[in-house]
Amino acid sequence: MNSVITEKKDRAAIVTINRPKALNALNRDTLEELLACFTALEEDREIAAIIITGAGDKAFVAGADISAMQDMDTLAGREFGQLGQRVMNSVETFSRPVIGAINGFALGGGCELALACDFRIASDSARFGQPEVNLGVIPGFGGSQRLPRLVGTGHAMELLVTGEIIDAEQACRIGLVNRVVSAAQLMDECLQVVEKISRKGPLAVRLCKEAVRGGMQMDIDRACRYESELFGICFASADQKEGMRAFLEKRPANF
Ligand code: CAA
Repeated sequence: MNSVITEKKDRAAIVTINRPKALNALNRDTLEELLACFTALEEDREIAAIIITGAGDKAFVAGADISAMQDMDTLAGREFGQLGQRVMNSVETFSRPVIGAINGFALGGGCELALACDFRIASDSARFGQPEVNLGVIPGFGGSQRLPRLVGTGHAMELLVTGEIIDAEQACRIGLVNRVVSAAQLMDECLQVVEKISRKGPLAVRLCKEAVRGGMQMDIDRACRYESELFGICFASADQKEGMRAFLEKRPANF
């Protein structure tokens, strides 16, 4: 059985982690399938955005697979962490927006997968945490780095050192998710966001992501110069001509 399922709905690709009996825990095969899936989707020009979610109604992803990690030695642990990080990087650097549809437990590697998405929308049953300290380890798929960058050092540090699990409303209060909807509404809500994105200038959407992702690695002066470069590139595109002409002709743009 495939542990990662991809389906397309209009301009959205829905990627579902599909190991519900193990609460969608990430083992090596699942990580490799995810990597292959993101590589393949990169070639699909039709896709406006990706939605990642978990199979079943209980978990988004309950973490890296603990039974797969139990007997690892130093090198195996490092190699597994590096594979996980390649997956998270492929999500983060995907050329179009990636939305986390968080439908249940997002713990450890699952919270880290959510963090690699561009933004997250949660169902009211979602739960978040980095419980690695309960297992005698630290996060290995980027959580100790992306969590403080997203929610600030104080909130991140508390979650990391206590292993505490928080509910969707708390996650929303600290900025870990953008909003909380009912489980029944979650996919429709995410699909509506993709629909909205699909009507915008495609190059501009990509460059927004590049500006934010690239700029966040730089100091503010370099980042603003980087923004100017990307802003300039927009003017080489048919999208800019059509977008501005449409505005002035008082009609919707046809990208
Ligand atoms: N790895 C492997 N199997 C897992 C798993 C995981 N991370 N999480 C859940 N499962 C399995 C359980 O072992 C169980 O399997 P069996 O039916 O074969 O016994 C099945 O999924 C259902 O889980 P529970 O019976 O435990 O369900 P529950 O409702 O009682 O509890 C839970 C749910 C609170 C999420 C609990 O399963 C749990 O605490 N899971 C582990 C969470 C965790 O520690 N995640 C971090 C992993 S370490 C990591 O991710 C490192 C990293 O950064 C790379």
